[in-house]
Amino acid sequence: MEFSLNSKIVEFKNFEEFNKVFSLGKNDLILTNEFIYNPYLRKYNLECNIIFQEKYGNGEPTDTMIDAILKDTADLNIKRVIAIGGGTVIDISKIIILKNNQISAELFMKKIDILKEKELVVIPTTCGTGSEVTNISIAFLEKENIKIGLATPELYPDYAVLIPEFLETLPYKYFCTSSIDAFIHAAESYLSPKASIYSEMFSEKAMALLINGFRYIAKNGEEARKDKFTEFLQGSNFAGIAFGNAGCAAVHALSYPLGGRYHIPHGESNQLVFMSVFKKYKKKQSVGKIEKLEIFLGEKLEVDKEEAFDALEKLLEKIYPKKRLEKYGIDKKLYREFAKEVFEKQQRLLANNYVELTEDEIISIYENI
Ligand SMILES: [Fe+2]
Repeated sequence: MEFSLNSKIVEFKNFEEFNKVFSLGKNDLILTNEFIYNPYLRKYNLECNIIFQEKYGNGEPTDTMIDAILKDTADLNIKRVIAIGGGTVIDISKIIILKNNQISAELFMKKIDILKEKELVVIPTTCGTGSEVTNISIAFLEKENIKIGLATPELYPDYAVLIPEFLETLPYKYFCTSSIDAFIHAAESYLSPKASIYSEMFSEKAMALLINGFRYIAKNGEEARKDKFTEFLQGSNFAGIAFGNAGCAAVHALSYPLGGRYHIPHGESNQLVFMSVFKKYKKKQSVGKIEKLEIFLGEKLEVDKEEAFDALEKLLEKIYPKKRLEKYGIDKKLYREFAKEVFEKQQRLLANNYVELTEDEIISIYENI
């Protein structure tokens, strides 16, 4: 058994309180987006260096984006990087803090030694990735034409800072998809064979916090989410700690072809396959850990354990209704191809499955969505 939590976790009500403690100055670099900077940071006239990620490209991080940011910041004598943003900003920051990082593709491909040079402070502005406490950075390498992850202890942020006011920047749709993604991190890591009593504790607390929040929104409407921002940030953070240790599995694996080919956002494509995967697990191996999960969810949702998965699905539908795969222009005939791709490329994730799934079973998971 092994369990690690390598980042100090701090919580502040707002950015002002954070800055009183961290006193940002000229050796600091903030990597963020303009839509976050303008309403929340501009007024403080900070002395530090500021880079807007979107000026270097949109969407998921690429080595070209990272290299351009590195070039522009090389002469600034940066000692500390403060990432304020979602997955893209955080993943790029994890590379900026490394030494000899002029050609980031070489780091991702482990052609040069990974050495940490700067301190990293991460302030997530979504409640989903958990990236503020994990040691993984993922980028698309343009020349090599591959999406690749670098996971190494040097990438653990020194500080994970939770500031609920930043969630206000997140439109309802992205709030939903990111918090549902966080829930899936907690649930997948709970069933993972790598789970331990420690990671389970974080998975359970994450699921409890998120279910409470979802129920509150279902009852009081989408604006009411603002009352629960702290709990959603904590839930996402706990889920990050759990999956950072026990891993994600089939839900993330099966969502890859949907995200990669149809550009369905990560949380949304995960939600599409989530229940279909868990119901397949239940059909294959109804006794064991999955029963423990059903009992836990049943308690939180106030239903019998047999109805727990259906009740959860209904609750998530109420928060953010799923669309049918055909609505994305996905043809049934492609399911076999998807399953093949998942089988070939996602063994790293499939290794964490609750039970083994065959290629035919993966096809039927897509069919049951
Ligand atoms: Fe995820």
